[in-house]
Amino acid sequence: MHKKSYPIILAIDTSCDETSVAITQGAKILANIIASQVEIHRQFGGVMPLIAKLEHNKLINPTYNLAIKTAKIMPEQIDAIAVTYGPGLAIALEVGLIFAKNLAQELNRPLIAINHMEGHLYSPFGLNSKQSPKFDLPDSKFPALALLVSGGHSDLVYLENLTSFQKIGQTIDDAAGECLDKFARLLDLGYPGAPVMEKMAQKGNKNRFSFPLPMTQSGNLNYSFSGLKTAGRHQITTLLKLFKQDIYDLSASFQNAVFTALIYKLNKAVIKYQPKSIWLGGGVSANKYFKLLLRQYCSKYNLNFYYPKSHKLSSDNAAMIGLAAYFHFQNQDFVSDFNLLQRVPRLSL
Ligand code: KG4
Ligand code: ZN
Repeated sequence: MHKKSYPIILAIDTSCDETSVAITQGAKILANIIASQVEIHRQFGGVMPLIAKLEHNKLINPTYNLAIKTAKIMPEQIDAIAVTYGPGLAIALEVGLIFAKNLAQELNRPLIAINHMEGHLYSPFGLNSKQSPKFDLPDSKFPALALLVSGGHSDLVYLENLTSFQKIGQTIDDAAGECLDKFARLLDLGYPGAPVMEKMAQKGNKNRFSFPLPMTQSGNLNYSFSGLKTAGRHQITTLLKLFKQDIYDLSASFQNAVFTALIYKLNKAVIKYQPKSIWLGGGVSANKYFKLLLRQYCSKYNLNFYYPKSHKLSSDNAAMIGLAAYFHFQNQDFVSDFNLLQRVPRLSL
């Protein structure tokens, strides 16, 4: 295999509360190191930006060293450096950007700026270090529709082919993950609450409480979750005391309402765009029940379903940044002046 067709990319993501450094080669992941700060932020019930910055500064060097060691490469073998420049927490993104710029300068390698959501977009295609670096996706699977659901975003993306895509829908208020986390907090499930809620929901009855299906009247493909959040809060207050079974049933019913809303608009997009495959990415893709619903949906409409193959690839990680960076490398889409590359906390796809 010609080396240059599958460059070795060192990727960095410090957009939120995970310090991550990965090494990828095409679709192949040689290392994907994630140093999570979640235990530190948990006591505050959310991410504290200043603490996140300090932790990133502390963790970025050891995480880099471990990535190099895990991938069993020498720094000189790296062909390019990729880094997330948004969306995310400004002062957290800054840590990754500074580290990436210094490293690119030191190694004299090109720098690639990546949108974090573009990373989530390609996360289903990450392969392990023993597999081929080729992206395993024939042309026959296009056009495709991607649903990206994280703590800050709920995006619907249309892909004509592997590299040309366009956002066709997004949330106008809360993101799906944020909505789940806020409801979980009302149930006292800690932070982040959505994964705990998934466990509670397994023992619950999803039909006990009914919640409104938002945005069904709007003609567009946008999402809104704030009404659902209000309805959830109202439902809790109508129960005078929460018994264990109430928590299980509320979790199951609410989670189901959020997922039904996500699939409702996805279905609208499927009717309009007639895709051959559905892609899923973002932290919420870790939810097994959601994947089951999507799998059922896709098999009903004869669509191929691609989703992150591991928990690591669902949540924030740098390997997905490396996967996205591969396409930028192919186009020689490099940062021309490092001084001009700044963090963009509200960067959109
Ligand atoms: O992509 P991500 O790790 O970070 C952002 O870019 O925001 O997404 C985090 C979101 C959080 O809202 C988190 O609660 C949610 O993904 N999440 C889940 C699960 N695991 C993480 N939501 C539902 N079920 C899960 N198992
Ligand atoms: Zn993310």
